[in-house]
Amino acid sequence: MNIVLGVGGGIAAYKSALLLRLFTEAGHQVTVIPTEASVKFVGVATWEALSGRPATNSVFDAVESVNHVRIGHEADLIVVAPATADVLAKAAAGLANDLLTTTLLMARGPVLFAPAMHTEMWRHAATAANVATLRSRGVHVLEPATGRLTGPDSGPGRLPEPAEIFAAAMALVEGGRPSAADDAGSPAPVPSPGTDRSAGTAPSHAAAGAPAAGAAPADGSSRLLAGKRVVITAGGTREPLDPVRFLGNKSSGKQGVALAESALAAGAEVMLIHGHMDVAPPPDAKLHSVDTALELRAATLSAAAGADVVIMAAAVADFRPATISAGKIKKRDDVADPVIKLVRNPDILAEVVAHRAAQNLSQLIVGFAAETGDEEHDARSYAEAKLARKGCDLLVVNEVGPGETGQERVFGRDGNQVEILARDGAGPVQAAGSKRQVADAVVRVIAERLGTT
Ligand code: CTP
Repeated sequence: MNIVLGVGGGIAAYKSALLLRLFTEAGHQVTVIPTEASVKFVGVATWEALSGRPATNSVFDAVESVNHVRIGHEADLIVVAPATADVLAKAAAGLANDLLTTTLLMARGPVLFAPAMHTEMWRHAATAANVATLRSRGVHVLEPATGRLTGPDSGPGRLPEPAEIFAAAMALVEGGRPSAADDAGSPAPVPSPGTDRSAGTAPSHAAAGAPAAGAAPADGSSRLLAGKRVVITAGGTREPLDPVRFLGNKSSGKQGVALAESALAAGAEVMLIHGHMDVAPPPDAKLHSVDTALELRAATLSAAAGADVVIMAAAVADFRPATISAGKIKKRDDVADPVIKLVRNPDILAEVVAHRAAQNLSQLIVGFAAETGDEEHDARSYAEAKLARKGCDLLVVNEVGPGETGQERVFGRDGNQVEILARDGAGPVQAAGSKRQVADAVVRVIAERLGTT
């Protein structure tokens, strides 16, 4: 695969030398484009020696091969690390005054920015707006890591570790080729039922009544998940239509946040990857915020690589607009009303399952399903079919839509009522009560599966 590695002018440029090594050792050809400022930190000789290719940011080098067009066109993936506030601003504005910015404008494949800067710069409204603009165009912008910065200061703004950037970059492509799922949204293959590598064995759960009966609360004293690395997705994704509009969903994020709180209380190390939420995330969780399903996918696949448990509680958009309008879509009397064409998003849960099988990981994977019944089948039958289709170990099912009183039963409400189905046929466990009580029940079932009760 042809990868372009753009290097911005920050002290973290030295870490990109390690990232470059990860790419080349994985068999990829890498063209490094260091910005003028970056070569004050790491010289051109380093990039040329490590990549085995010329490294320049000038559009006037190798003019005969029309470098600024060729490199962008040939790139299967462009990664900019570190992405400084300056590079993000130039990319958002569409400036084209050097080889890196022209290459970004010529790009046909996925583009990933790994920002690094001081916290104040990252949080500045200008940078936030530039990041939002880039994301609205489908560009992937990682959240910076939190920790010690160049001076005595610390906070969000550190360049994510090279291995994390590498994993996020590889998640944007599949098997070293641009991902078909990114373009056409076709889901990744799901391993056959025989490939289950879930941890632990299946205790049989008797159905238990509300609230979360049969499932002891995962309070601080029980430490059911001590030392376990748990990745939880929460909230709803937003798929941009134009700079001001998006397709979203009703998810409040409450159940995902309750799960994060419950897992933290049970002693787990929690990474919460969240889309839009109406509630604040727990302060002790590692956070990664995303907008779109494709961003959620990249962050989740990257985090899942080192996780003992993955819980997909996010409401992921199954479809996204095929194109994102660069300008606000205007109503006009002289043209027909617009028709929005949608394309499928990848099925992230199925991809996490496929990734577990491919990497031979011992990992427990939990899906959520919001189901409605109809005249043909009840919600449970649809859920059982979904569990088989997705290949996860557990599926937490709730029936959504108006209840007997005509009021919405789940979305945005504080309580929940679920059935926890297991792929091996154990259970199901029923739980009801507050979203935290339901979360405690889910954590308890997970702990039983991991054998940590
Ligand atoms: N999910 C996912 N990627 C998607 C859609 C859903 O990972 N593109 C995950 C959700 O986070 C959840 C589970 O799959 O854990 C089930 O989500 P749901 O929306 O109920 O299922 P769909 O696959 O979208 O099925 P359908 O809408 O056809 O019922």
